[in-house]
Amino acid sequence: MTTHRIAVYPGDGIGVDVTAEAVKVLQAVADSSDFDLALDHLPWGAQYHAEHGSVVPDDYLDTLRGYDAILLGACGWPETLPDHVTLAPLVRIRQAFDQYICMRPSKLYPGVTGPLRDKGPNEVDLVVLRENSEGEYVDLGNRHHQGQPDEFALQTAVHTRRGIERILRFGFDMASKRRGRLTMVTKSNAQRYAYGLWDDIFEEIRSVFPDIQSDRQHADAAAMNMVRCPERFDVVVASNLFGDLLTDLAGVVGGGLGLAASTNINPERTAPSMFEPVHGSAPDIAGQGIANPVAAVLSAAMMLDWLGEAPAAERIRRAVEQTLAAGQTTPDLGGGLTTVQMGDEVVRRLGD
Ligand code: NAD
Ligand code: IPM
Ligand code: MN
Repeated sequence: MTTHRIAVYPGDGIGVDVTAEAVKVLQAVADSSDFDLALDHLPWGAQYHAEHGSVVPDDYLDTLRGYDAILLGACGWPETLPDHVTLAPLVRIRQAFDQYICMRPSKLYPGVTGPLRDKGPNEVDLVVLRENSEGEYVDLGNRHHQGQPDEFALQTAVHTRRGIERILRFGFDMASKRRGRLTMVTKSNAQRYAYGLWDDIFEEIRSVFPDIQSDRQHADAAAMNMVRCPERFDVVVASNLFGDLLTDLAGVVGGGLGLAASTNINPERTAPSMFEPVHGSAPDIAGQGIANPVAAVLSAAMMLDWLGEAPAAERIRRAVEQTLAAGQTTPDLGGGLTTVQMGDEVVRRLGD
């Protein structure tokens, strides 16, 4: 029997609650499948920082490298630690492990009322592929003359031909297996060097995929169109920062952040990939036991897909679908279930 070794990094706030439910669902599905899961819990985050003086141990990348996958909850506890401290390891893991595809589906499930009038499950079914290894997220810059009237900051983005090509190719391949549409989102009307390169490479690659209907939109227009006509989007490819913004938007268009799953994938498998919800640690509802665990559960299902356990992943997705269709939800979707009860409802519907 195969055993998949999983590093579980719940993080902070609701990250802890929703990860517990994802783990519960994973264990239930593994119990009735022909694979095993060895789950190691890593208690890193703001609390760990209070005890040890750092958010993660110095050798955290070496530790993580030994696993088949990483299941992450959410990080950030701004009340006690600046976000750039708590979040630095997360961004570092994505880059150090070359998890260059951040895949974030947005699919409105039957039974869930989305925020857009007349836009139901038939209109909202898209995937954003966010470049996850470079772009606006490289740690390159400085603050000068701090505290002085002439203070200034430099923050440099790095966009490489290799980085842009590989995500666009991945996107065109994915579009050919979906509805055959790809939209690239940049902002080349304002930032001609970086996004000019994206535009040039887009033209080169789209000519290799003549069957895919492809277009490019500036990020401001794309944000507006995602609300106005989400049905026009199938696969969306965006740079790191625009992908971040668009996936909160796509998440809410698809029913809310409580449902929005995400992956950070290294397609060549030279290092572990990481699976986590789109949402953060939600300090506003942390400790209340009401966070929706579905985004974490669906991220765990995507992890099983990645580990070659597609039937088990499909069982989880079906159970989530049935739970939502039955109107069983947490308060973010208008229901009255607690986080734990919502996890139980999914487990109950897993079947065997
Ligand atoms: P957030 O995603 O944590 O929350 C935004 C809003 O959505 C809040 O009102 C929250 O209550 C709600 N929400 C989010 N997830 C929910 C869920 N599962 N169920 C019900 N409601 C949910 O974003 P924020 O408030 O901007 O950030 C809070 C902290 O999380 C910050 O420290 C931020 O840096 C961090 N953050 C971390 C990640 C990550 O770890 N990947 C992602 C985004 C934000
Ligand atoms: C996300 C988050 C992170 C990001 C933050 C917390 C660094 O917003 O995963 O979407 O911007 O990538
Ligand atoms: Mn984000």
